[in-house]
Amino acid sequence: MTAFVRNQWYVAAYTEEVGEDLLARTILGEPIVFYRTQDGTAVGLADRCVHRRFPLSLSRRDGDRIVCGYHGFTYEPSGACVYVPAQTRIPRTARVPSYRVVEQDSLVWVWIGEPELADASAIPRAPWLDQPGWTTVRGMEPLAARYGLLVDNLLDLSHETYLHGGYIGTPEVAETPITTEVDEDARIVYVRRRMKDVECPPFYASSTGIDGRIDRWQDIEYRPPCLYLLHSRIAPTGVEPGPDGDDRGACHAEIVYAITPETETTTLDFWMVARDFAVDDEAVSEFLAKSNRTVVMQDVVALNALERVIATEPEGYQELSINIDTGGLAARRLLRKLAG
Ligand code: FES
Ligand SMILES: [Fe+2]
Repeated sequence: MTAFVRNQWYVAAYTEEVGEDLLARTILGEPIVFYRTQDGTAVGLADRCVHRRFPLSLSRRDGDRIVCGYHGFTYEPSGACVYVPAQTRIPRTARVPSYRVVEQDSLVWVWIGEPELADASAIPRAPWLDQPGWTTVRGMEPLAARYGLLVDNLLDLSHETYLHGGYIGTPEVAETPITTEVDEDARIVYVRRRMKDVECPPFYASSTGIDGRIDRWQDIEYRPPCLYLLHSRIAPTGVEPGPDGDDRGACHAEIVYAITPETETTTLDFWMVARDFAVDDEAVSEFLAKSNRTVVMQDVVALNALERVIATEPEGYQELSINIDTGGLAARRLLRKLAG
């Protein structure tokens, strides 16, 4: 089983999810309440009152403070308790842990681990989510499966042919071999599948408006543990990027997943599709949002089933791996290394 990797940044929410209301999210088994102060700063506090454990997420705000809904302990955004009922002396230990929270690329990242090791410059980027010239659709599905199963799933896209036929899967995805590369120092797994002169799946035929056969690139870049990028390039067959890198003849979709472990056997599956074509076309946005959610739910159903199988299998059961699993195996190895 893939262990939790602590001392890392994780996506806790989309920026628009954190606001006036108290948002409860559990990340690597730690219950956290998120909210935004009046000056716009996103805050994350341990979601457990120091007094009798009442969830702060079920409490109420008083300005930038949270007033515990059970007996009124009142907390500052720093986690310090500034009021307890019926006495003036506030115990020295009356404080809930506060988390390092950073917003970048329209994502709310939280540091899980030793606070003094948090380095915001180490947060991986996904600039398309928040950049002119791109339009993004996105959502989040809770997964009743361990995060390692989602990593396996995303690192091996040959499953598209079987699980997502009629959406993004075509026979050529499973038939085309992949190349896998691991940057050990930067800790990135790359998996590339370059398909030439292939059928255009409905997902892209309807959204790009490209007629006929295409060249289709799937370039995966996985930055463990949390961020997964699929650089997808769709072009009419034979249209290549220019020598200066100019690639205006092609359509690009940046498919981003944030893989956030919730508990040992549940995961927050954040999915996003950013595109540089038909950026103002609402109908295309609606189509991609609906289609991609359907695809994500096909994975959710499959991965939830795998988790149920794991729950009943004997200790020491051995899987069988083949060439298509090279990326997934490399990812597991990096995750083990990061878990230390
Ligand atoms: S549990 Fe929060 S004040 Fe008692
Ligand atoms: Fe899938």
